[in-house]
Amino acid sequence: MKVIISSFFFLFTSLLLHAQNGHQLWLRDKKALPVHVICKQNSPTLTIARQELHDSWQGAPGATISLIIKKDRAVKVDGFKLNENVIQANTDKGILYGVYELLRNQQTGGKPKGGVDNPSYQFRILDHWDNPDGSIERGYAGNSIFWRKQDPFTVTDEDKKLWQEYARANASIGINGSVLNNVNASPMILTPDYLNRAKVIASLLRPYGVKIYLSVNFASPVSLGGFKTADPLDPAVMAWWKNKVKEIYSIIPDFGGFLVKASSEGQPGPQNYGRTHADGANMLADALNPFGGLVMWRAFVYSANNEDRAKQAYDEFMPLDGKFRDNVIIQVKNGPIDFQAREPFSPLFGAMKKTSVMPEFQVTQEYLGHAVYVVFLSTMWEECLQSDTYQQGKGSIVARCTDGSIFPQKNTAIAGVSNIGLDTNWCGNHFAQANWYAFGRLAWNDTLKSGQIADEWIKLTFYGDSSQKSGEADYTGDWTKNFLVPVKQMMIDSREAAVNFMTPLGLHHIMSANGHYGPGPWWAPKGIRPDWTPPYYHQASTNGIGFDRTKKGSDAISQYHEPLSSEFNNVATCPEKFLLWFHHLPWDYKMKDGRTLWDDLCYRYDTGVNQVREFQKIWDKAGPFVDSTRFMEVQRKLREQEINAVLWKDACLLYFQQFSRMPIPYDIERPV
Ligand code: GCU
Repeated sequence: MKVIISSFFFLFTSLLLHAQNGHQLWLRDKKALPVHVICKQNSPTLTIARQELHDSWQGAPGATISLIIKKDRAVKVDGFKLNENVIQANTDKGILYGVYELLRNQQTGGKPKGGVDNPSYQFRILDHWDNPDGSIERGYAGNSIFWRKQDPFTVTDEDKKLWQEYARANASIGINGSVLNNVNASPMILTPDYLNRAKVIASLLRPYGVKIYLSVNFASPVSLGGFKTADPLDPAVMAWWKNKVKEIYSIIPDFGGFLVKASSEGQPGPQNYGRTHADGANMLADALNPFGGLVMWRAFVYSANNEDRAKQAYDEFMPLDGKFRDNVIIQVKNGPIDFQAREPFSPLFGAMKKTSVMPEFQVTQEYLGHAVYVVFLSTMWEECLQSDTYQQGKGSIVARCTDGSIFPQKNTAIAGVSNIGLDTNWCGNHFAQANWYAFGRLAWNDTLKSGQIADEWIKLTFYGDSSQKSGEADYTGDWTKNFLVPVKQMMIDSREAAVNFMTPLGLHHIMSANGHYGPGPWWAPKGIRPDWTPPYYHQASTNGIGFDRTKKGSDAISQYHEPLSSEFNNVATCPEKFLLWFHHLPWDYKMKDGRTLWDDLCYRYDTGVNQVREFQKIWDKAGPFVDSTRFMEVQRKLREQEINAVLWKDACLLYFQQFSRMPIPYDIERPV
């Protein structure tokens, strides 16, 4: 009996611990020190700001801090001014962001930069690919936190608690919008039952400054309204949308707007009726405009038998530049294909000069090992944001082309496809939480460096497991040397490792079909669309490997501004990381370091596997610094990642070897 009771107790406490450790994300309970908060104004958001200070203060004990809402022209939208003991902002949301910044600095030992801190993007949005039945497209952390199949319209206390925790986590990193449903949108989302559930979600998110948006199905007037057409220029269709929008705003007065995937991957859209993306987007924009709503119109388009899928978005959208309403933003994936481990930036960035354009990143790891791999995506997004488009001369980096620094866009925005589900730790892998965190931080400040973001996240997420003390942490000693430094290095190297063992040298889209997890460079069943099969992308034959996008090939390089266009076109100047993205080369092509292309490919695959093994060694030594649940869970994930990395290397090299007809180099096993 005693054994049963004690094992039950053990199970209970470890479940509790598990929940606490995973669930708290980077907002972990700390023993707070006393603080006086002075705030003359009142609002639900300010109540939260005050409470956060009392719950988490790690600064001088007994200090006084003033929260002041006062108009200041240097402070933009929800920015703030942080000085010594005063947080000033134009809005209560600005105050809340200032509070989180101050607390973050206290906990991470960072020095507040002081002065004005304005967000890079006005709209910082998480896109949830959640379906009304609770499943999540490309979700690897359980079912939706918003929707469910059983008893779909009852709102429980647990639902509310979860939505509130979700909102708080977002607010703490500056995210201010959530699209609640999948871009492959069910028309059902616009029916009253779903809108009423969305209303409750909105009410929980509102005090944290998070607005809600919905993805809409372009053919909703047909499926819901009983119309024969969804032609955007049909007056009855326009009227249907106007009424629907009015209805939504009567239920959710601060509704953010629509996200639309149209005429893309089989989704209905204006092209079904011989109309353009601009016709479709503008019709919805006109319906939303009286209420201040936005249309985020996706540029993720490609069709069967296109000579080069990478070119289509640019070809379709560039002629429409300047034809969109002010409240339309074109949402563009970071690369021209589809969230691959490495892609050059989409040529639409900076090229559309008279239209608001927003980057779309994928936080969920569809092509990067699901919730299994430890891959810190911040370095990938930083690489994209820092890429120079040259569109307005040197220094026209993607960040500045989209955040309003270069073009006077009416609205600036950025979106991340969420990795959140009902799993206890939210994201399926403890390290995947870092990607949610990094997305928010970069959306707030697109000049941040991944090293800083990783540093903050590790401190917030793991410090205190071994030494539960209050007061400002100084981050000296063992913890820093033996945990922070190596784990940070692992995070910084993790994306390059994944590129190495999956798709080195610019290879892309060679994953297994449908699941998009393991390797599948051979997959090409008869009758399937060629642009869905890996051989379309790697083009391997006995002649060589790679997709020729030079002038002699598909000429995708001409979508980039000079000098990039020539740089990519010329094999001697094309960065090796994009070599096989832009060039088809013989197996014995000489790389910069003298190796043949084949040998280099072998070497890189092998390096990737070795890097994962190094990560395992780093984590194996993390035991003393992390609670056992998280320690073991991450250890298990890395073990699985290593197995999959070996599979990638063996499968790809064996497959490509039938074409290269060259041996695996004898010195492949070199230290990393
Ligand atoms: C990818 C992904 C789909 C998704 C699509 C999109 O193709 O595999 O699940 O719907 O991107 O972004 O629309």
